[in-house]
Amino acid sequence: MEKYTWHKIADNIEELSFHENGMTEINVSGKTICLAKHNDTLLACTQKCPHAGGTMADGYMDALGNIVCPLHRYKFSLQNGRNVSGEGYFLKIFPVEIRKEGVFVGIAGNSLFNWLK
Ligand code: FES
Repeated sequence: MEKYTWHKIADNIEELSFHENGMTEINVSGKTICLAKHNDTLLACTQKCPHAGGTMADGYMDALGNIVCPLHRYKFSLQNGRNVSGEGYFLKIFPVEIRKEGVFVGIAGNSLFNWLK
């Protein structure tokens, strides 16, 4: 199982502001990632599309909470990163947890550190 370092991004979900498409970009531990709000759930993925680098936060989410890239409209599950429109790419996703102490995003530890464990 992947080990994460959890980074607090807000005290609560109301503190976060989203664009009309339900997405925003945030900086976590030196990485810019895309944060998406779907119903009352928060989901996160890399800022750049794995196909040709489209900015995911400029795309949109479908009714199922899949994210659609603005450049060529490839569609990805924000639950597991699968390319649900079938082109064979994989979008890196990050876990988000809403706890009573705040909203946290999990970033996997660097590979050297994992190797030493
Ligand atoms: S860059 Fe995202 S689908 Fe092509």
